[in-house]
Amino acid sequence: MDNTELNQKVGLNQEDNRDQFQSKFGFIMAAAGSAVGLGNIWKFPYMTGENGGGAFVLIYLISAALIGISLLIVEFAIGRNSGASAVEAYGKYNKKYKFVGFFSMIAVTVLFSYYNIIGGWTIYYFIQSITGNLIGLNAEEISAGFNSFTTNVDIVAVFGIIFLAITAFVVLKGISGGIEKACTVLMPALFIMLIVLAVRSVTLPGAAEGIKWYLKPDFSQVTSSTFVAALGQVFFSLSLGSGGMVTYASYLNKKENIPFAASVTAISGTAVGILAGLAILPAVFAFGLSPGEGPGLAFVTLPNVFGQMPFGSFFSAVFFLLFFFAALTSSISMLEVSVTYILEKTKMSRKSAVLVMCLIILLLATPPLMSYGSWGDIKIFGKNFFDLYDYFVSNISFPLVGLAGALIISHVWNEKDLKDEITNTGEIKFGLYKFWYSFVKYIIPILLVILFLTATGILNI
Ligand code: ALA
Repeated sequence: MDNTELNQKVGLNQEDNRDQFQSKFGFIMAAAGSAVGLGNIWKFPYMTGENGGGAFVLIYLISAALIGISLLIVEFAIGRNSGASAVEAYGKYNKKYKFVGFFSMIAVTVLFSYYNIIGGWTIYYFIQSITGNLIGLNAEEISAGFNSFTTNVDIVAVFGIIFLAITAFVVLKGISGGIEKACTVLMPALFIMLIVLAVRSVTLPGAAEGIKWYLKPDFSQVTSSTFVAALGQVFFSLSLGSGGMVTYASYLNKKENIPFAASVTAISGTAVGILAGLAILPAVFAFGLSPGEGPGLAFVTLPNVFGQMPFGSFFSAVFFLLFFFAALTSSISMLEVSVTYILEKTKMSRKSAVLVMCLIILLLATPPLMSYGSWGDIKIFGKNFFDLYDYFVSNISFPLVGLAGALIISHVWNEKDLKDEITNTGEIKFGLYKFWYSFVKYIIPILLVILFLTATGILNI
């Protein structure tokens, strides 16, 4: 189906011709770009820190391999098959399921609202690096600097808005013009930079204890909340349930190999997380910091590592620039979900759609931003706004959308259409098809229902 037919099918207006990814590498890099982001570099190390180390890592890896790849295949198939926005995609076989896509769009918009805040932190740290302000400080000064920055909500708001504006700019450029080009260069560069940092971190004096803590599972630490956290992290880090993967796949050419793209996406997302953990956690032990530090972990630990490297300022600047880009390649996929939907449903131009969404996001971002300042004491279900948003998105909404996607594809779709979509009508071999199908139809729904009941406190195991 060519672009014009696609446009007619999904009712896009003429000004916004439905773009497509120009190459397989471009799509994989964009999907990996959506997966690899703050979730892997910022969140994974501190979640590992808060959840006891190696056992969390192991549960995360197993879940990413089984549930992560399986659901990525589900979302790529749903997206490509529809060639439309996430909302239309979930409702393609039965309109009543459009609400799933709608719910994913709300969840990803909530995610984007607090993601901007951390995205802004990366820009601030990049500027601090190029001005040399991060080098020559001891561990206490680095922690104090982080606290005084993050609690200064005016400054954080300014950097958050800059991050939002840059995301909006890239999304305005459209799929192949902006997103694909940016991801193709930045993702490999980030990977190399993380390897350099991991090598430095594991060779620091005193790092051995941290490596052991990170890589050797200690199951005495595992509780039901470790599973909730690890699965939530799989959803967050692979952008599952966010509508982002469905939306990107809707721009995917019919010839591409979905199981392969899903595997590469999951492996890159996971590998970046593991590498980021290796760059951060051994250093946490080497510098006598606490692994349970929470969201500040990467920002407090890495400047210490840079301080121990020759050309520390240079490496710090390159790292924070790439960290920023990793966040950006994820945030553009988040914004694209609602923009694609608005373009499909209204006569708005891409520019107006982006503008409307930016305003909504600014409003939504206020409570999590203020939770670092004067609203810090406001707690709902024992959580401040920032943590509440994150829990609602990662541990409840995304898994629910994942559950719905698995059920829709295996119970609502006709199986022949599904197999044709996944194998490109028999042109590609997917030896594990039967296993994947049964896993998605029976096992994933059971696991995700248990996760939902546990995450909401209905089930106590
Ligand atoms: N998958 C995105 C990330 O990890 C949301 O940052």
